[in-house]
Amino acid sequence: MLLAVSGASGKTGWRVVQGALARGHQVRALLRPGSEVPPGLDGAELVRLELGDGPALAQALGGCQALVIATGARPGIDLTAPLRVDAWAVGSQIRACEAIGVNRVLLVSSLCSGLWWHALNLFGLILVVKRLGERALESSSLDWTIVRPGGLSESETGLDQEQMKYSKAGQQQDGRIPRRLVAQVCLDALETPLSQKRIIEITSKPAVEASDGPKNPKTDSTETGSTEAGNSKSCGAVITADSQAGLASWLTTNP
Ligand SMILES: NC(=O)c1ccc[n+]([C@@H]2O[C@H](COP(=O)([O-])OP(=O)(O)OC[C@H]3O[C@@H](n4cnc5c(N)ncnc54)[C@H](OP(=O)(O)O)[C@@H]3O)[C@@H](O)[C@H]2O)c1
Repeated sequence: MLLAVSGASGKTGWRVVQGALARGHQVRALLRPGSEVPPGLDGAELVRLELGDGPALAQALGGCQALVIATGARPGIDLTAPLRVDAWAVGSQIRACEAIGVNRVLLVSSLCSGLWWHALNLFGLILVVKRLGERALESSSLDWTIVRPGGLSESETGLDQEQMKYSKAGQQQDGRIPRRLVAQVCLDALETPLSQKRIIEITSKPAVEASDGPKNPKTDSTETGSTEAGNSKSCGAVITADSQAGLASWLTTNP
């Protein structure tokens, strides 16, 4: 498929681009006019534009079958950035997709999206604002998926040993995940129709740590699921990292 990725200069975005190319997709990487181009974009078509420029955005999305939105306000002193990027720019991308018929859209959001009482909100109420972006997508006419990762890391080692924890909205509030695995889940979700109209929270742990089990089994219910996704009805099945089938299985058993 021809896949558009916005925020492609970002640390998750370029990994989505690289992963998509490795899966044989064509990729159109959407960048700001001043974005630095990371090496991970080699092989993608680069298009520079401001996301608020509707006609340019519509032209950039022309012919694409899907869009991954990996934009996000970069931390800084401009407290309006979250509203502009995580709500308004997401809205303009949704409108452009609706206008030109790019029906499949996946948004990289965040764990705790929508929470008011959270330290991260010191940066422009970012978690509240992210929920506005999510809601705009949910109420659109598009086939959407929202992926909410935990704290992102740059780790690139031992990823095949990581165990993923998927859950529905509002089930996980902490935990981390390497950006490479977030990119993998995004691409798996795009290839999994069951992920449409779903919010998927994701974190991961190294296999050894994950197998230690819950510190408090009575309260830590997301950790008590079977390691076999197909056996778990809990809100947060623990499954192996590299499996589209695992995501599909979790989606099936947790409708
Ligand atoms: N950091 C975390 O721990 C964490 C945890 C959970 C979720 N998230 C979310 O996950 C997503 C990816 O995070 P990341 O840390 O991988 O991203 P990142 O490296 O910070 O990249 C952000 C991307 O958004 C683009 N962007 C920023 N402002 C923009 C604007 N006004 N117009 C157009 N593009 C703009 C950036 O472009 P430039 O290169 O031009 O700046 C860049 O491509 C974000 O939505 C983030 O909020 C982050």
